[in-house]
Amino acid sequence: MTAPFVAANWKMHLTVAEAVGLAKGMRDGLAALTGATRVVCPPFTALAAVAAAFEGSGVGVGAQNMHPEASGAFTGEVSGAMVRDLCAYVIVGHSERRQLFGETDDFINRKVHAALGLGLTPIFCLGETLEQREAGRAAAVCREQLRRGLDGLDPDAVARVAVAYEPVWAIGTGRAATPDIAQEAMGGLRRELGELADAAADSMPLLYGGSVNPDNIASFVAEADIDGALVGGASLRADQFVAIAAAVAQAGAAS
Ligand code: 13P
Repeated sequence: MTAPFVAANWKMHLTVAEAVGLAKGMRDGLAALTGATRVVCPPFTALAAVAAAFEGSGVGVGAQNMHPEASGAFTGEVSGAMVRDLCAYVIVGHSERRQLFGETDDFINRKVHAALGLGLTPIFCLGETLEQREAGRAAAVCREQLRRGLDGLDPDAVARVAVAYEPVWAIGTGRAATPDIAQEAMGGLRRELGELADAAADSMPLLYGGSVNPDNIASFVAEADIDGALVGGASLRADQFVAIAAAVAQAGAAS
């Protein structure tokens, strides 16, 4: 494990005051874990306040989405430049965006290009549905999402992306993938990334996401190609997210 990395996705939860309270509750615990990249992704409305709450802590902040265009008549949308005003990371390609908001690989690819062009680090998500897994298509689906999502990037650009494998059936279900299943999928992603980013693929952060909690995180980051986690529900509890981040940092230090 070469790039310990843990990120919180707070999804559509928390008012500004609640988000600042949660950020303050995890600030000291996360600040101490210098061996891992730590990122918190609040809703847009709380980005500025949460960034201020983490200032000087070493904890990065990210948006949960962005529009690929720089500006324009896109009511309700937020551009990468607007995101970059406030933070350094952005989640793109989350399965909830793909499934609930109809985002295509092509649209996600445009976001990845725009984010990198602005100097933002994309946390690029992919993963198969249960139906696709049961049809034996998990590896092919993930490969396709990876190839299409990162299409047109040169190897240096690919190497600046954090990739999160989030099987849709494991998100918010309390039914995490087994470490074996995650490793198999993520080993495959690492091999694909080797073709896209050359040797730099070995040090790219690959995150597992889907029902991660303080009890199962160690078993994931013990796997060769799992460098950390993208955490939903458990990241809404300061003690749980700090415990998960500590396990990620510890696995990084041990490798
Ligand atoms: P849960 O940790 O709640 O399963 O969510 C995972 C996720 O979607 C993170 O982006």
